[in-house]
Amino acid sequence: MFRLLSEALGVEALNIDASQPQEDHVIASLVAALDQHGIVLMRGQTLSPDEHIAFSRRFGPLQEVAQKQYQMPGKPLVYVIGNVVENGRAVADPSVGRLWHSDQSFLQHPALGSILYGLECPPVGADTLFANSYAAYEALPPDRQVYLEGLRAVHSFADYYEGLRRRDATQPMLTSERKALYPDVVHPLVRQNPRTRRKAIYYNPGYVTQILGVSDEESQLLMRELADHCTRPQFVYAHEWRAGDVVMWDNLGVAHKGTPFDTEHYIRRMHRTTIAGNADVYRASLLQ
Ligand code: SIN
Repeated sequence: MFRLLSEALGVEALNIDASQPQEDHVIASLVAALDQHGIVLMRGQTLSPDEHIAFSRRFGPLQEVAQKQYQMPGKPLVYVIGNVVENGRAVADPSVGRLWHSDQSFLQHPALGSILYGLECPPVGADTLFANSYAAYEALPPDRQVYLEGLRAVHSFADYYEGLRRRDATQPMLTSERKALYPDVVHPLVRQNPRTRRKAIYYNPGYVTQILGVSDEESQLLMRELADHCTRPQFVYAHEWRAGDVVMWDNLGVAHKGTPFDTEHYIRRMHRTTIAGNADVYRASLLQ
């Protein structure tokens, strides 16, 4: 039923039609595959927004993204990504996720997972890169693992958003109301999968501004070291999208990043749902 996608992470689940109601044992096997392999691909899917939402809800309550202007009209749980313009208005987020990140780490209880569906995919470019943060932790010498386990990092939506606006001037200004909705949060640098107890480096170059408990200089050095280490080629799988692909990922143990494509010649249209975090799962992800 599953086929490995790479040495680094990921499996393809065969014979699943995500538009149909799923038996409990199928959902349990997908959760187990996510725990073990970090991402699960299902090819050849045709999903209406309601079917995408219904399938996603089998993994937990869903959450709207902060980028309200790119929520699908009438279906705010579907986040539209790509370079789609309708009636002169960009209806898809053109520049999300171009830095390594895991979704919504700027929340007190970050998203547990995301389910991205490719409707129109350029034939070249626009790969999504995924990095295995469990393997990155396990590859460290024991004394470095212990050192990181004692540290925490600041994750900042406001800082990320300022960077995004520098790269993409079409993004609206961050209003003070929106900024107040997403104050900076602090997460440990190492968290564990609540079910398997496997430890992962929870570092997020897209949102982390500082590592606490060390000097500013050490914080800068450590951020560079972690960004390099966590995305070494042996931890990374590059997904080349085909229309009809659905990719689910574990946001605790996997970081991801979108890549550019020729926006003059190709259209990219993706729909994403986001599985909400909660206090119980978050607590269980903290090391004892
Ligand atoms: C995301 O960061 O959720 C989207 C990644 C992509 O567009 O490839």
